[in-house]
Parts: sequence; C-alpha cells; structure tokens
Amino acid sequence: MGKNMRDQVKEHYGEIAGKLQKGSASCCCGAGASCCTSIVNPEAFYSEDLSDLPVEAVNASLGCANPLVFAGLKEGETVLDLGSGGGIDVLAASRYVGQKGKVYGLDMTDEMLELANNNKERMGAANVEFLKGFIEEIPLPDNSVDVVMSNCVINLSVDKERVFREIFRILKPGGRLAIADILALKEVPEKVRKITEMWVSCIAGAMHINTCTKILCEIGYQKIEVEPKHYYTKEVLEHMAGNEAGISDLEWELIDKAFAGSHIKATVPVT
Ligand SMILES: C[S@@+](CC[C@H](N)C(=O)[O-])C[C@H]1O[C@@H](n2cnc3c(N)ncnc32)[C@H](O)[C@@H]1O
Repeated sequence: MGKNMRDQVKEHYGEIAGKLQKGSASCCCGAGASCCTSIVNPEAFYSEDLSDLPVEAVNASLGCANPLVFAGLKEGETVLDLGSGGGIDVLAASRYVGQKGKVYGLDMTDEMLELANNNKERMGAANVEFLKGFIEEIPLPDNSVDVVMSNCVINLSVDKERVFREIFRILKPGGRLAIADILALKEVPEKVRKITEMWVSCIAGAMHINTCTKILCEIGYQKIEVEPKHYYTKEVLEHMAGNEAGISDLEWELIDKAFAGSHIKATVPVT
C-alpha cells in the first residue's frame, strides 16, 4: 500500500477537518453522507436531542452508528472516546456524565483536534478534554476510565488487537466498552482490502465479526455482544471505491452487504 497507512489516514482526516473548519464540507468521503457510512443519514443514529451541541460538531459527524445509545453513561463517570474527530460523541457524552464526570476525546490528527477544541469552546463544556495520541498507545493510566466509546475508528487501525488490549488496560475493573464500528460479515476479496480509498473510508480495514469476538475473548473481556446494524450495499461501496478500483462485477456481488456498521459491547472483569 506504499506510504504508511496510519499516515495516509491522518492526511485524509486532516484534509476533511480543514474543509469542515472552512465550512466547505458537511462530511467527507462517501456518497454525500458520513465518511464511514453512506447508507444511513447520521441524523438517523442520533435519536437524542443534539440541539445544544454546536452545529459545527454535528456537521462533522463521521461515524457509522451512535455509541451513546448503548454506552449507558451515568453521572460522574469518566469516559474516553477513541478517534474523537470533530467531537460530536464527546460533547454529547459530556451531558450524561455532568460536572462530576469527565469525557476525554483522543485523536491523532491536529486539524481534527483543533476543530474539536473549537467545538468544545462553542459549547462551553468544562468537563471535556481532547488529547493528542494514537489509539494503539492510549495516553492514560491503567484502570482510570469507566467507559471507552468509539465511532468508526478502530477499523482504520492496522493493529486492532493492540487497540483492544489498550482499552482493557485503561478500563477500571467492571468498566465497559461501547464501540460503533464497521465489521465484515463475509470473507472479502483481498483486492478490496488493498484499495487505499476504501481503507481510509473505513471499509477495507474492517475486521471480520468472528475475529472481533475472538480477540475480545482472548484478551479477557466478558459479556461480549456484537450486533451488525447498518449494512453497506454494493452501490454505496462502488461510490466509495471510485472508478479506478478495478473490481469485477462478480467481486461487487461478493461484497454486497458484506460490511455493516455494528455495535460492539463488552466489560472487563470486576476483579
Ligand atoms: C471516521 S473519523 C470518526 C470521527 C468521530 N468518531 C465521529 O464519529 O465523527 C476517524 C477519526 O479517527 C482518527 N484516527 C484514525 N486512526 C487513528 C489512530 N490510529 N489513532 C488516533 N486517532 C485516529 C482520525 O483522525 C479521525 O478523526
């Protein structure tokens, strides 16, 4: 794939954040909808009222589902959002945990962090902090967080097991993860996995659903629940891949609805 994939992902999201800052993009790479999903309008995910969030944060939504729906956040909890982008989920979560709680957003892309901090300021969210760093090396201590959320980010990592190990490390005993991410439900042609445009658009790097469950099990997570929610049709995928993808009609048939925005839930043992 040539250049280091993490650098390509960073460059991609840096450009999107730059456009969002200038107000020249309402989203990024898909067919006129969110980067990670063009199948469902992001507004459909967010059943709760977002009217008190800055419009710039809502417009920057690049997720593939809504982790807040199943995160069960409570007042006073400490929460971390991996790959926080423009900050929509962090700012929405800040209302659930209140002033006694704290929400961290972690992202590697400077332009996204700038956008997120501007949105934090617009909302006046004192219980929010955006951190710069990688989801594979989370800059927080062991056993320090009640809930780890993420929305359409882990698929972008080239070392997903390491990300889930890092989450396990920083969660407190009994802590939980609530991840919205794209998973593969079928075997996918290797050619598709090598298309950079489909990787940075959150598709090509998506783990198989069984691999996800196996990794979580092996690390020691409990109460694992993985549920596909929003399926990608071949038309949407074709739009993402662009004309140069060189994928045959048969291969398009194979990947029709092979990927889905999914809910991933698990807890770490109490002791
Ligand atoms: C598809 S966007 C999702 C943003 C946000 N979660 C949302 O729902 O709007 C992916 C975000 O993850 C960040 N990201 C991707 N890979 C990362 C990594 N390895 N470490 C830290 N951040 C990463 C990108 O910079 C980008 O802001």
